[in-house]
Amino acid sequence: MSINVESLNLRFENESIESLLACFLEAYKGRIALASSYGAEDQVLTDMILGIDPAAKIFTLDTGRLCEETYTVMDQTNQKYGIKVDVYCPDRAAVEALYQEQGINGFRESIENRKACCQVRKMEPLRRALEGLDVWITGLRRAQSPTRETMRLIEWDESNNLIKVNPLIEWDEEKVWDYIKTNKVPYNALHTQGYPSIGCAPCTRAIREGEDLRAGRWWWENPEHKECGLHLRGT
Ligand code: ADX
Ligand code: SF4
Repeated sequence: MSINVESLNLRFENESIESLLACFLEAYKGRIALASSYGAEDQVLTDMILGIDPAAKIFTLDTGRLCEETYTVMDQTNQKYGIKVDVYCPDRAAVEALYQEQGINGFRESIENRKACCQVRKMEPLRRALEGLDVWITGLRRAQSPTRETMRLIEWDESNNLIKVNPLIEWDEEKVWDYIKTNKVPYNALHTQGYPSIGCAPCTRAIREGEDLRAGRWWWENPEHKECGLHLRGT
């Protein structure tokens, strides 16, 4: 399948996010899902999407190394909306082999080790989560990092062979938080402790005043390496 990305972007660039979501959720019913890491952006989208279709598919990749606060907001979200988000876990044998290969925290030793860990704990579960889908929705924002500056509202995801919709691509942080507060959306407690971007616990730290929003992710690596593979483009 292939799509005309240009015409879709043109069609939706001046529409509200709610009407973009409503169109896609209707047109791709049963073949569309939101990928949620329970970050603030994903919580906004969960609230909007369930307001349109209470049965819409939402999935999360539980790497097995997430922060306790993330599991708390996962639970609060299921309870508030009366849902059970689909959880994809890493393959047991692959995690055991990874441990034999690099130990329990081997991802700190080299970029290769870190990528191998993300491959086992995120990429392979993502491949399973996307099976049978035509569209995935993400909470990516352009302002999050230099690696995201050229991302678009609607993209053809070459690596995964499906449409990728990034409804909040133009939003700034303020807009995200206005929505959360106005609509009383549950959010990750770490956001109030200096964590604008939250991934796995051992690979995320709080940022300092003036630091880049994603400075706390894989902070020991150079900025150009700081994508785990979920959102690589043109590769
Ligand atoms: S990451 O690639 O560095 O991990 P980031 O944390 O900024 O990505 O999140 C960007 C988007 O990727 C999220 O809004 C969400 O759509 C998706 N995403 C990231 N991590 C996960 C996860 N563990 N489970 C599901 N979706 C995720
Ligand atoms: Fe492993 Fe860290 Fe990647 Fe999580 S973010 S999968 S712990 S390397």
